[in-house]
Amino acid sequence: MYVVGIDLGGTFFKVGLVDAESGKILRKLERETKVNEGGDSVIQRMAEAVEEITEGIEYIGVGIGSPGSIDHDKGIVRFSPNFPGWVNFELGGLLSNKLNKPVFVENDANAFVLGEKWFGAGKGYNHIVALTLGTGVGGGVISHGMLITGHNGIGTELGHVIIEPNGPQCGCGNYGCLEALASATAIRRMALEGQKKFPESVIFQSENVDAKSVFEAAKMGDGLGKAIVDRVVNALSIGIANFIHIFNPEIIVVGGGVSRAGDILFEPIREKVQHLVMPSFKGTYKIVQSPLVEEAGILGAASVILQNVNKPK
Ligand code: BGC
Ligand code: NA
Ligand code: ZN
Repeated sequence: MYVVGIDLGGTFFKVGLVDAESGKILRKLERETKVNEGGDSVIQRMAEAVEEITEGIEYIGVGIGSPGSIDHDKGIVRFSPNFPGWVNFELGGLLSNKLNKPVFVENDANAFVLGEKWFGAGKGYNHIVALTLGTGVGGGVISHGMLITGHNGIGTELGHVIIEPNGPQCGCGNYGCLEALASATAIRRMALEGQKKFPESVIFQSENVDAKSVFEAAKMGDGLGKAIVDRVVNALSIGIANFIHIFNPEIIVVGGGVSRAGDILFEPIREKVQHLVMPSFKGTYKIVQSPLVEEAGILGAASVILQNVNKPK
């Protein structure tokens, strides 16, 4: 059984043909997304990409993961930070008409948690909280085996829970969101802000000032690096402790570029969260790094179609 996953990002969309049994990506290709391109033209190019990748293969349908507010039931992008021009854009329906196949659209982090359930660390679990730490911070929650989407399909924006009411401004306009404290964008911002106080920091000797150089610096004992990692760990630990109290998950999966920092991030988070949760929650969950890495986007999107085809009636 084959399905197609489309990971729709701001600069590229990635299309993959996935074997649903093994979770193997058999073929994949990448196309530019031109932000100012009209919707019809994007749909046309997406359809061509899907046709190219599925040539000679019978597939069930297409799943799409996209950042922003997605009305899953209608396949509509209500609003996406990547595509300012797409307001109430009927992505799912239009692509489905072109391909003559079912197409389901989900928020990218909702797709991510589904990907973890079908193919990753969430296999066998029915209560999962997932976070993606990339350009933004996304959240996805599975409860009793079902994706939580809320009334309009746009719920579980875990990246926009407020951690520091007087903290830095977030892309959403509010202050002190988890995203403003733990995304790759936030980590880079904190490094640049620290340059005045820590001009000698090794962070500024690396080619790029980014999350990776910050974590590497922290590992070497760099003062600014350690201070930033502390703040990121704190913010994530508060957020995760809150999510544990709300959802009582069996497992919390953390993915996205920032998660690749590994132990320097996960060890202090596990310790802090353990300290923050109520006694009855201690030992009821585990916090793990996503094993899907580069493939998370396509496998997540592919899981969107799998989850819907297999939905209990
Ligand atoms: C958006 C979410 C998205 C996340 C990750 C956030 O800024 O609000 O919808 O899931 O970034 O892309
Ligand atoms: Na979400
Ligand atoms: Zn926000």
